[in-house]
Amino acid sequence: MKVQGTDMILPLLVLVIIGTVWGLDNGLARTPPMGWMSWQRFRCITDCENEPKNCISEQLYKDMADRLVSDGYAAVGYEYVNIDDCWMAKERDANDRLQADPKRFPNGIKALADYVHGKGLKLGIYEDFGTHTCGGYPGSKFYMQLDAETFASWGIDSLKLDGCYTETADIPIGYPIMEQFLNLTGRPILYSCSWPAYLQKPTYQAIAKSCNIWRNYGDIQDSWGSVESIINFYGKDSGNFSSVAGPGNFNDPDMLIIGNFGLSYNQQRVQMAMWSIMAAPLLMSNDLRNIRKESKDLLQNKGAISINQDPLGIQGRLIHTAGKIQVWNKPITPQGNFAFAILNFGDGGPGSLISVKGATLGLVDDRGYNITDAFTGEYRAAVKPNSYFNLTVVPSGVFLGKAYLLK
Ligand SMILES: *[C@@H]1O[C@H](CO)[C@@H](O)[C@H](O)[C@H]1NC(C)=O
Ligand SMILES: *[C@@H]1O[C@H](CO)[C@@H](O)[C@H](O)[C@H]1NC(C)=O
Repeated sequence: MKVQGTDMILPLLVLVIIGTVWGLDNGLARTPPMGWMSWQRFRCITDCENEPKNCISEQLYKDMADRLVSDGYAAVGYEYVNIDDCWMAKERDANDRLQADPKRFPNGIKALADYVHGKGLKLGIYEDFGTHTCGGYPGSKFYMQLDAETFASWGIDSLKLDGCYTETADIPIGYPIMEQFLNLTGRPILYSCSWPAYLQKPTYQAIAKSCNIWRNYGDIQDSWGSVESIINFYGKDSGNFSSVAGPGNFNDPDMLIIGNFGLSYNQQRVQMAMWSIMAAPLLMSNDLRNIRKESKDLLQNKGAISINQDPLGIQGRLIHTAGKIQVWNKPITPQGNFAFAILNFGDGGPGSLISVKGATLGLVDDRGYNITDAFTGEYRAAVKPNSYFNLTVVPSGVFLGKAYLLK
């Protein structure tokens, strides 16, 4: 690892001294974090003259903070307003501190944090572990402590640390050091790591010791193919990464693209259902100023959100596959209850008639279960491990169920 100056020496000592008992304990992300993030929808648009509504600017984040509150998102749990790449000036200031682009953020990040906090929300920011961010702005390498202190002094509540422009060998060493610097600021800052996304065989136990959430797959794009590939990656669960999820630590399959251009209504339902089953952070990347009611209602669906936010924090798993049909199961409170999803990746016809045994859905207690549709709350059927649940699931569609153990 390339270390320059003295700023990395202290935490390395701390790591050596505390050794194995040291672990992440910042009290945050006890359930998957919820909020909004700019990247997928607004990318690195910096031309505010030609794209005033879409450019990465103070105004964009204020607009989204306003909408989170005025349009009911905050009331159902969406809390973080997350700045992504391209917020910075191209150079650090005379004291080596990061600075926001002065034209696009004329009042600076601290003022934006005050504004967001004034709405009862939290502000997240973006940096990169390497020498530059993926968009080419100043990275944190060699400045990690200063940057952690700067973020804390601005009142930042969450940091996404990307992994462009570094050697991969440095990644497992560097991300924990940033966690130490965040901790030393004394300000609880949710730590989102891109660490596993840049490695072939990440060590998830180590990641969970340092990070609240972490991206383990490529960036989501505004398309069904992208959503499908992420779900299949989570279904494969290579290295059993699902077992590391729990209160304080969650795998992050990336942003919700519901309300954008690439997904049909049924495909948007699939993303909401599956991100809930996977105990994924619910970070929307869309334009809350311009969104269809059907998408907004999905994003605010209380049944799906309650599955996502279940206090057990267990990540659901793919437990059965039959052709293009997948069955996923997630234990939820109270003890013995489950959420499940029956997902149809088929691409033709009116929908698949499905007849599935309770046991195949993971419902193995002989007392049986009442099944409701989680999106609508409607009662659907009572099933036992050996009795059948019958339904139709349309192509690119999903049934999201809750199963209540009968007593
Ligand atoms: C720093 O770490 C200690 C020990 O894990 C923990 O008790 C404390 O809450 C952390 N503080 C912050 C601000 O994250
Ligand atoms: C994954 O980990 C969980 C919890 O530790 C364990 O019960 C399960 O058997 C593991 N699965 C595989 C495929 O290793």
